Amino acid sequence: MQIIETGRLILRPFREGDAADLFAYLRAPTATCFLSLKLADLAEAEIAVRKRALDEGCVAICLKHSGQVIGDLFGGAGDGEEDETTSVGWHLNPQFGGQGYAFEAARALFDHLFRARGFRRLYAYVEDHNKPSQRLCEKLGMRREGVFVEFVSFTNDAAGNPIYENTMQYAILRHEWMSGAAAIR
Ligand SMILES: CC(C)(COP(=O)(O)OP(=O)(O)OC[C@H]1O[C@@H](n2cnc3c(N)ncnc32)[C@H](O)[C@@H]1OP(=O)(O)O)[C@@H](O)C(=O)NCCC(=O)NCCS
Repeated sequence: MQIIETGRLILRPFREGDAADLFAYLRAPTATCFLSLKLADLAEAEIAVRKRALDEGCVAICLKHSGQVIGDLFGGAGDGEEDETTSVGWHLNPQFGGQGYAFEAARALFDHLFRARGFRRLYAYVEDHNKPSQRLCEKLGMRREGVFVEFVSFTNDAAGNPIYENTMQYAILRHEWMSGAAAIR
């Protein structure tokens, strides 16, 4: 992907040297949907960075003033996309939450996906207990399109049985984005 600059951030592909910053938040993912991304050590983080660097849909969110990677976005990977539709997602180092960085980054990515990449529809899956992510979808002008009940399991209970979660789907269309949906805060 091309490098995107916002007021406070640079969005760019992952690259060598990002492992420590990635490990800082993937050593203990807070969202259940990202538990499978958990990294045991820096060596695993280096492997993960190399994979991410080759993934067109994977974007590092960096602070402009320091260059630190504070999280990532995904969306617009070449494979598996149908009907000009792509799924999007976000993951911030919790140290940098509550400062508007996720919104700033996601808004820039949406603009890129709609205008430069020509996507027609973006959607996100969000668990019903993940209020910060739902709030972000809404600020981006996404519509809640439905709830899939007991849709997916990321964890097991003490007896080893899967715990199924309710998953919401949010989406936005290109013409909605172009008409200024993200101005809604
Ligand atoms: C979901 C997630 C990305 C949201 O991050 P976030 O920091 O809460 O989101 P935002 O960037 O929208 O910032 C939130 C707050 O920063 C505040 N803020 C502070 N300074 C700001 C500034 N300079 N500009 C804009 N907002 C600012 C805003 O008021 C906003 O609060 P509001 O929504 O009540 O208005 C984050 O919680 C996360 O990474 N969670 C773990 C991974 C995850 O759950 N991913 C999604 C799976 S579906």
